[in-house]
Amino acid sequence: MNQPFMGPPDKFGRFGEFGGRFVPEALMPACLELEAAFDDAWADELFRNEFHHVLKEFGGRPTPITYCERASDALGISLYLKREDLAHTGSHKINNVVGQALLTRRMGKRRMIAETGAGQHGVASATAAAKFGLECTVFMGEVDTKRQELNVFRMELLGARVVPVTSGSKTLKDAVSEAMREWVTCVTDTHYCLGSVMGPHPFPYMVREFQSVLGKEAASQCLERGFQPDFVVACIGGGSNAAGLFAGFANSSSQLVGVEASGGAAISGGSPGVLHGMRSMIIQGESGQVEEAHSISAGLDYPGIGPEHSHLAAQGRARYVMATDHETLDALQFLSSHEGIIPALESAHAVAWVMRESGREIPTGSTVLINLSGRGDKDVAQVRQELRARRD
Ligand SMILES: Cc1ncc(COP(=O)(O)O)c(C=O)c1O
Repeated sequence: MNQPFMGPPDKFGRFGEFGGRFVPEALMPACLELEAAFDDAWADELFRNEFHHVLKEFGGRPTPITYCERASDALGISLYLKREDLAHTGSHKINNVVGQALLTRRMGKRRMIAETGAGQHGVASATAAAKFGLECTVFMGEVDTKRQELNVFRMELLGARVVPVTSGSKTLKDAVSEAMREWVTCVTDTHYCLGSVMGPHPFPYMVREFQSVLGKEAASQCLERGFQPDFVVACIGGGSNAAGLFAGFANSSSQLVGVEASGGAAISGGSPGVLHGMRSMIIQGESGQVEEAHSISAGLDYPGIGPEHSHLAAQGRARYVMATDHETLDALQFLSSHEGIIPALESAHAVAWVMRESGREIPTGSTVLINLSGRGDKDVAQVRQELRARRD
């Protein structure tokens, strides 16, 4: 019998030829400790019960599925949104950080560090740290601290220290590098709460498992409402909201589609390489130099992608496509004015692809489920500026 899709990785943390653990010697014990702690916790019913309890009582789960009547009429499809924008702190990021904060406590550590791009993972980490009484430091590219000023203030209100990163392109990639450097110096009392399905094993697997709560929830909500989506679509930065969603549908008939920013499309424009401790598809020059990604949305500004997505692409189980900044701004306005839902710029990429392909790659009459990974409040000031610049 064929293996089911999206099972656990092999004992080296590999999904097919991708994944693994490419870290300096000094980080190896921390990765091994984390792998053992996660395996033990995830096999423990009490831990899982607490995870689900916190997500229900504190995190606002389950989030609903919303049918988009006016958008569906306009596009000639049946469009549903999985509403992660309604989760506590305004995005799916809370699912992962609740899991990792509980794990930090279980490992007897007192402090979490995190990286952030759009600020959503940083806000979620600061939130979970406050709730569980952990110290929290968040690394954020200097460019992103300016793009997402309000989220910086939110993190500070929540008691976290935000460290602007001034190396490289001063965005997400550099924030991850800095957080990894910091982790080497303080592994004994600090957990690195990585924000996506990337990095060395066990992060890609662990974060997917924590995020799968949203995909499994969505699958049973669709079933309850009597439909199986033809297309299941999510935006991709590192790939955690997509991995969580795909986990609920990987062994069904639904087509899985990940939408990358056109300026950061690791599957469409990259090649296999090593970045941040994982082997995956990476945007790189001929000599293997990692290139800068460019996206209107800070959360998708990343030149790599989680290794499991590279594997799903290689297996042909999921497709990876792109949306441009321009299409994304149009999609954000479309969803806002047709449905009364302002999506995060990240999530608007998924909407943009569905808008472009309805009646083309998405046949008229199809049922489409988009993961609305976050709400757009954090982006409105930037969107106003972009739209003004477009008009002038
Ligand atoms: C709302 C939202 N969606 C999506 C992403 C992209 O991350 P991932 O691909 O891990 O879901 C981010 C990252 O910051 C985000 O804030």
